[in-house]
Amino acid sequence: MSDTFDAIILGGGAAGLFCAAEAAKRGRDVCVLERAGAVGKKILISGGGRCNFTNIGAGPENYLSANPHFAKSALARYTARDFLDLVEKHGIAWHEKTLGQLFCDGSAKQIVQMLLDECDAAPGAVDIRCNQEIGDVSRAGDSFTVTTQHGNITAPKLVIATGGPSIPKMGASDFAYRLARQFGLKVVEPRPALVPLTLGGEDVLFRELSGVAAPVEASAAKGRFREAALFTHRGLSGPAILQASSYWTPGEPVTVNFLPDLPADWLLDAKRDRPRITMKAALREHLPDRLADTLSERLGVSTELGNAPDKALRAAQEKLARWTFRPNGTEGFAKAEVTIGGIATGELSSQTMEAKNVPGLFAIGEAVDVTGWLGGYNFQWAWASGHAAAQAL
Ligand code: FDA
Repeated sequence: MSDTFDAIILGGGAAGLFCAAEAAKRGRDVCVLERAGAVGKKILISGGGRCNFTNIGAGPENYLSANPHFAKSALARYTARDFLDLVEKHGIAWHEKTLGQLFCDGSAKQIVQMLLDECDAAPGAVDIRCNQEIGDVSRAGDSFTVTTQHGNITAPKLVIATGGPSIPKMGASDFAYRLARQFGLKVVEPRPALVPLTLGGEDVLFRELSGVAAPVEASAAKGRFREAALFTHRGLSGPAILQASSYWTPGEPVTVNFLPDLPADWLLDAKRDRPRITMKAALREHLPDRLADTLSERLGVSTELGNAPDKALRAAQEKLARWTFRPNGTEGFAKAEVTIGGIATGELSSQTMEAKNVPGLFAIGEAVDVTGWLGGYNFQWAWASGHAAAQAL
């Protein structure tokens, strides 16, 4: 038995479902093959069950890729405002949580249902098949054939939308990369991103602060983020650290400014205004007590500030503004919200996501070497890249 469609989309996640709906709007008959028992599983768990479905400020500068220009075209042609219009058309109530991050008021289920409704309403047909074990994928002439346990499916267009390997216990795998390599496409070495960092060595003492959070500015390489950091029993997490983790490479430091809102000479000012105050008490005025105590022990100023030399206070100020952690690793794909790296953008058209050397083959979403910041940017890439490909299906 062989079914024939205009396009086969491998993966019924955010990018695959949206691409299917958009292609069907253009009258295409599309088959979505999903390995899991249901589509959109990552959407359902995203944003704590409320799905941070886009970021209203999403632009190319919020993405990491070996080619930072690649995402520009797709993001410009399908914007956060476009997706928000769709959400509103479906009567889904939403709110902005912080920093342009848009969430459902109700549940992430509404976003999955919206995508399914869009597929149903389109003039083309969308045939969604779950529990599919994909075997061989081959190309002969102008047509692709995908073998599943139920038979062969054939189409002139094939879209890889199977995501990245983050959270393998949800079924994530490196399938997209294996398939891309089969067709001769290069893959940028994938690594976990938006992931907690682990601490060892001298930093191990900070693990005793597990559960303590503070607003900080965290930096790694060119990434600098002002959000909350959280100490965990394995190391560092919280939005500021997750963001910095995408820019971090093993062996490099992560720098934390614990007091980004205070003036540079705040300790010298405190010494002048309140000479009897101790370092610990001064820090406790701005930071959670346990963190203040740990930091003050390590700053080596045990006297009242009035008795400490200016030089020592200056050094302490600088250290607090540039506290250097040397993570010994990350918590890996098991805890990574996304994957950095993936199918090399140089292999794809930035207009259509079609492989330059394999006509009819497309790659979209997280499978591609485009990775967004935390805060709705990754779904916006899934929608935008899915939309771009759909225009060419
Ligand atoms: P996605 O992973 O969504 O879909 C891929 C699909 O392919 C899956 O359904 C999978 O089962 C299927 N598949 C895999 N292998 C297959 C095979 N061999 N055969 C057939 N099907 C196969 N982003 C954001 O912007 N806002 C947020 O709030 C969050 N929150 C969040 C929370 C958590 C816990 C995680 C892990 C991730 C997020 N993200 C996020 C990231 C976001 O979920 C991610 O970027 C998108 O889901 C990527 O969409 P894709 O469609 O590319 O992959």
